[in-house]
Amino acid sequence: MSYPEFPNHDEFTQIGKVLAGECEEEISVRGWIYRTRSSGKLAFIVIRDSTGNIQTTVSKQNVSENSFADARKALIESSVIVRGIPVKDERAPGGWEIRASEFVVVHFADTFPITKDQSDEHLLNNRHLWLRSQNMVASLKIRSTVFKAFRDYWTDNDFTEIQSPSFTTSACEGGSTLFNVYYDDDKEKTGQKFYAHLSQSWQLYAEATMFGLENIFTLAPSFRAEKSRTRRHLTEFWHAEVESAWMHNHQMMELEEGMIMHIISSVLSSNRKELEILGRDISILENIKAPFERMTYEEVLDKLNSMGFDLSWGDDFGYKEEKALTQELKSPMYITNFPREKGFYHRPDPSDPKSLVCHDLLAPEGYGEIIGGGERVWSPEELVERIREEGLEPESYGWYLDIRKFGSVPHSGFGLGIDRTVSWICGSDHIKHVIPFPRTMRRTTP
Ligand code: 4AD
Ligand code: MG
Repeated sequence: MSYPEFPNHDEFTQIGKVLAGECEEEISVRGWIYRTRSSGKLAFIVIRDSTGNIQTTVSKQNVSENSFADARKALIESSVIVRGIPVKDERAPGGWEIRASEFVVVHFADTFPITKDQSDEHLLNNRHLWLRSQNMVASLKIRSTVFKAFRDYWTDNDFTEIQSPSFTTSACEGGSTLFNVYYDDDKEKTGQKFYAHLSQSWQLYAEATMFGLENIFTLAPSFRAEKSRTRRHLTEFWHAEVESAWMHNHQMMELEEGMIMHIISSVLSSNRKELEILGRDISILENIKAPFERMTYEEVLDKLNSMGFDLSWGDDFGYKEEKALTQELKSPMYITNFPREKGFYHRPDPSDPKSLVCHDLLAPEGYGEIIGGGERVWSPEELVERIREEGLEPESYGWYLDIRKFGSVPHSGFGLGIDRTVSWICGSDHIKHVIPFPRTMRRTTP
């Protein structure tokens, strides 16, 4: 066996299989050096692949002279191939080791710039390398389960997956967090440069698409120029959104509850090992129960004020308020009936028009908002009124208003922040730990 004529893909065994005790014959394993130390005639090299870490012992007696020299010389993160017989050994981490009969260094790594206990900033600057760490790999596996669980849940409920554009010209979530992108020169008409926005939410497009498909969902990035530097804000985040014709707010809330429970149970059945790597208390996830508690905005206002806050009707709940509210919770909670200033597309409650038929879902343990959703204004006249009320121009919502003119129907939808959800499930202290290349106002590299 010599590089580059190493065995075919299917001739290799994954380390996870060896650790599970499924291999007793001679095997070939490939991966990267995670840790290495040598003494005289023996080299102890821990190798990692995406499924686990295993110790290999390379003995001067059992491999060629060159091979042994290479094994001693190779630094961490060198890529290697090992052939040998797995042996049960209590002293080895993971309980198994491979006694090498062949050891090939595929590529000698330079000195790896990441060592123990380095600052967050250093890890972010070296994100392209830090993605190899056990914690990153564990979080990204859980993230993948969350994506799959979201898709499976809505597909099983007969919703159709649909995409909407990222370049838009109408603001869905207010002007203050819009990213403007230089799009094209419009010289012939105005002599001016033309700017588009990056989408903050698929919602306006979803409401148009819904008239054909009725029940739809998407998984896509949304963009917000967030001035807030908290542990839960990104400028580019992954948005899981749903829209449904004829659906009432309370029905949507019940479906969302089912979705959250499905996501949690999927992670519990697929990712116990990853949760352990991250040091997550699994019993906390096992104890999440539906139905979730429901409180109106007004009730929450009273509760927060009784805890020492000084809030009045119309005030927004920020991170501090939501943290205080959810710190001691075991399961997520809903807040409904927000004040009508929350957004032009929300439907005012006919029995209490100062509030809206809408909801947020807050994750427990201080994590706070992960979902925003509700029923939409569906009467064309009321929509124009609401747009004006928010100080916006009905003219810039031309096509959105148009869809209300042709068989408008009551409908509801919501947006779930995937990164926030994964951060909560992982018990992470910052959203940046659960997305491969986090984007914030201060960071667009690597
Ligand atoms: O509450 P939001 O702003 O609601 C909407 O965008 C609706 N148009 C969605 C809809 O009804 N289709 O955003 C929805 C969720 C939030 O609850 C939060 O989880 C996440 O998106 N989110 C962010 N996540 C990370 N970084 C940010 N800057 C985020 N802004 C919103
Ligand atoms: Mg919101």
